[in-house]
Amino acid sequence: MLNQWSERLWTYEEPLRFLGFEIGRIMTVIRLSSGGLFIQSPSELTAELKSALDALGEVRFVAPASKLHGHLYMEQYEAAYPTAELLAAPGLDVRRPDLQFDQLLGDTPDPRWAPDIDQVAILGNRWISEIAYFHRPSRTVILGDVGYHIGDGSPLKTRIMAHVAGVYKQVGPPLDFRLTIANNTSFRRSLQDVLAWDFDRVIPGHGDIIESGGKQAVLDGFEWML
Ligand SMILES: [Fe+2]
Repeated sequence: MLNQWSERLWTYEEPLRFLGFEIGRIMTVIRLSSGGLFIQSPSELTAELKSALDALGEVRFVAPASKLHGHLYMEQYEAAYPTAELLAAPGLDVRRPDLQFDQLLGDTPDPRWAPDIDQVAILGNRWISEIAYFHRPSRTVILGDVGYHIGDGSPLKTRIMAHVAGVYKQVGPPLDFRLTIANNTSFRRSLQDVLAWDFDRVIPGHGDIIESGGKQAVLDGFEWML
């Protein structure tokens, strides 16, 4: 049920309706070189998904995309994996006081995942502030709500919405988000930090995964900001 992209990188896609549109969401699973699993944007922990994860290794870290909906189902992981650590995107700790977060994420990766994963905090607007991750061994950048990439894999209604929102076959946040970015200078600096990574694949928060040519796609998609 998981798609494997490289030796230690998998994704799992599940449906998500947002504002009436089926945009789906993508969970990323990374097996750290130390052995444990780092999960980003967790999907509903069904029995089937749980056994697929357990076959890969021990769940150690559960990270959200943005605080918008990247934190869904984190409580299920907290219950199923008592020794796993929950990580908070900026502002998520305030949004989900029911969860016991072990760490507030910023620009500096924890030494326990830093050998494999780098990270950059992207502060957007009051709903979308998130962490972009870079899985170094597979040269993959993982985005959340600043990285929509709706393509032919989505239903017609979603594709029409994506055209209007400027995210059809283009990496980036919807147009309305672009108008509400709190600080363009820091947003641009974060993007430049992302672009400094040597990546080729992009896993967007919603839509189609870009298998190669990802850096050019991000450059093109964020031309309005850069
Ligand atoms: Fe999202």
